[in-house]
Amino acid sequence: MVTATSTALEVVHGVDLTGKVCVVTGASAGLGRESARALAKTGAHVILAARNRSALAETEAWIRDEVPAAVTSTVQLDLTSLADVNSAAAAIGMIAPAIHVLMNNAGVMFTPFGRTADGFEMQFGTNHLGHFELTRLLVPQLVAAAGARIVNLSSDGHRLSDVDLDDPNWQHREYDKFAAYGASKTANVLHAVELDRRLRDQGVRAYAVHPGVVATSLARHMSRDDFTALTEFVPSDPGQERIDVRRDFAMPDHGAATQVWAAVSDDLADVGSVYLADCRIRDDVAPYAVDSDHALRLWDVSEGLCAGASAAH
Ligand SMILES: NC(=O)c1ccc[n+]([C@@H]2O[C@H](COP(=O)([O-])OP(=O)(O)OC[C@H]3O[C@@H](n4cnc5c(N)ncnc54)[C@H](OP(=O)(O)O)[C@@H]3O)[C@@H](O)[C@H]2O)c1
Repeated sequence: MVTATSTALEVVHGVDLTGKVCVVTGASAGLGRESARALAKTGAHVILAARNRSALAETEAWIRDEVPAAVTSTVQLDLTSLADVNSAAAAIGMIAPAIHVLMNNAGVMFTPFGRTADGFEMQFGTNHLGHFELTRLLVPQLVAAAGARIVNLSSDGHRLSDVDLDDPNWQHREYDKFAAYGASKTANVLHAVELDRRLRDQGVRAYAVHPGVVATSLARHMSRDDFTALTEFVPSDPGQERIDVRRDFAMPDHGAATQVWAAVSDDLADVGSVYLADCRIRDDVAPYAVDSDHALRLWDVSEGLCAGASAAH
């Protein structure tokens, strides 16, 4: 039985996805790497996407060591460039005419101010817009699967901020790295909400996931003061003990459980547009992150930004 303390490998115990295809972004490290290994264990063909070729090759070798029968491919993907996202989507399409699981997992957190190749703020551009465009380009393959799931990695950090649709790329405000991460993770939930609304009739369901606080290289931009500030900020459910991000963290094999559960669980067969954590549906998501009108407006803004950037190429 799957519980809040299951590992990703325990979640896939007895699951057979032979003949199916799973795409995992950010598969070269942390939660993506663990998820890719667990999905490979199901017999699925797992396409590992990330920007660093040698890290991808190393991950593929690690998965083959752990799962000798694994069927894997690698695709280079840099979410900070829509031209690159386009090439990666084309490469994935060449490998797989149908995609059963798209795990939009790659991400950066609390980066110093920066812009992507297309001029987007780095966290919004990488975490949301890159995945928005990748997903849009892969819709034909997702629909062709006749039963597909899109799993967007969000975070309880979405509570740090709503996404400001009048200034999503921080052109008119002083940059705040915490709020920018929060906005990008809010966008990940809103994206799942609107994807599910648009695609459910074609057999595609979408989910947003909080993996917990997990020891990975995601925290590479955090100072000691940032850890303290975050611990003070992190709101908890009333009656729950406050989480101390300096102390209360999981390892990646446990952290990847919920996103893998989102990808494979029969419990979610007729469900979508939900926020998941601890291998269950959670209802303590910020209202602005699941507001359907807001989700539609973010979709329109994202489409406009990506189309504008592509036209400029
Ligand atoms: N760890 C946590 O506590 C936690 C909590 C809540 C939510 N999350 C979410 O979980 C997801 C995975 O995070 P993680 O903890 O596994 O982080 P991680 O260990 O830093 O791994 C992130 C992955 O994303 C890739 N990536 C980063 N920028 C990219 C880009 N521009 N193009 C393509 N790939 C890129 C990284 O590749 P490179 O090595 O090339 O950078 C790496 O493979 C993120 O979306 C994060 O927001 C994590």
